[in-house]
Amino acid sequence: MSTTTIKKIAVNTGGGDAPGLNAVIKAVTMSAIQRGWEVYGIRDGYNGIFLPTDYPNHDGVIRLTIDDVKDITSLGGTILGTTNRGNPLRYPMKTAAGAVVEVDRSDEIVEGLKRYEIDAVVAIGGDGSLTMANEFYKKGVRIVGVPKTIDNDLSGTSITFGFDTAVSFATECIDRLHLTAKSHKRIMVVEVMGRYAGWIALNSGVSGSADVILIPEIPYDINKVAEHLRASFTEEKDYAIVVVAEGAYPKDGTYAVIEKEAGKAERLGGAADRVAAELQGLLKKEAREVILGHLLRGGSPTTFDRLLSLRFGAAAVRALEEGYSGVMVAHQVPNMIYIPIEEAVGKMKLVDPNSETVRTGRELGICFGD
Ligand code: F6P
Repeated sequence: MSTTTIKKIAVNTGGGDAPGLNAVIKAVTMSAIQRGWEVYGIRDGYNGIFLPTDYPNHDGVIRLTIDDVKDITSLGGTILGTTNRGNPLRYPMKTAAGAVVEVDRSDEIVEGLKRYEIDAVVAIGGDGSLTMANEFYKKGVRIVGVPKTIDNDLSGTSITFGFDTAVSFATECIDRLHLTAKSHKRIMVVEVMGRYAGWIALNSGVSGSADVILIPEIPYDINKVAEHLRASFTEEKDYAIVVVAEGAYPKDGTYAVIEKEAGKAERLGGAADRVAAELQGLLKKEAREVILGHLLRGGSPTTFDRLLSLRFGAAAVRALEEGYSGVMVAHQVPNMIYIPIEEAVGKMKLVDPNSETVRTGRELGICFGD
């Protein structure tokens, strides 16, 4: 608990963007200004602080006013910019020899916050950003985290903002694909984001009446998928929709990493490509893949995500006012609560293969590849 009076706070967004980030920024800014505090936005995660203050046209840390935020509830992306390549604890730097090494620059951030006379920070981000926030808390920074990810895989909170928007858009895409798949009598394999957790694939696949849903939590057997589809084809229904999370993998294999570099998050790719090629080979039927990828992150947040984001932002400011630090705002129906950040990070919230939604899918005749 910290009871020192707050005059200035900073807010930042880290990791991949998610619909609703701007609504959180708005709620943080407006509720802080209402308390008489000044609000500053740090650009691009924490990178804005690394810019020297005498840098020409320096705008790494910007003052936020009501005018800056009042119209951004419905805006996708983040007005502050973000990065998933700028972890100050493992900052990628080039050596004289050209190699990339990870350097701990966190003390520069702590000093930078002091230089700007920032009394407290609201850090909006996923597991990586919240882990950073916890390290800054241990270094004496007064900080509250707001959980963010379209993947909905953060522990401690029943839901993260951006997830509903991603699922709604994925479901709309699956609806569209039914029509074209039916017209061409094809198998359409749709890849959605979800690096290690299959929430988006599961919820959109069940809602969009997929024939097959493949998620990382249930490693698949491609022969079982093919058998299921073969048995499902009739004269009237000779097409199929297969929804694949990008992190789905075969039970005797692993997920496909296409990029792993110092200071960067692991990048996956190729899940739908692999499934489509194998199904085409096994079923001798045309199979095409569609990768929804970043389309799921763009766009305007749904009403559900707008309200959730505004509630997260306002609750973060309430937490600071009440003296909390080192906590994350968590949604636990029907309330927003505060939990220690370290209780939330480092462990993912995965789909339970025996969960009610998976069981519902199975009862609707959907194959999960097992
Ligand atoms: O936000 C998480 C996520 O959407 C993952 O599902 C995905 O693997 C990742 O972001 C991709 O991020 P980027 O391509 O922006 O590095």
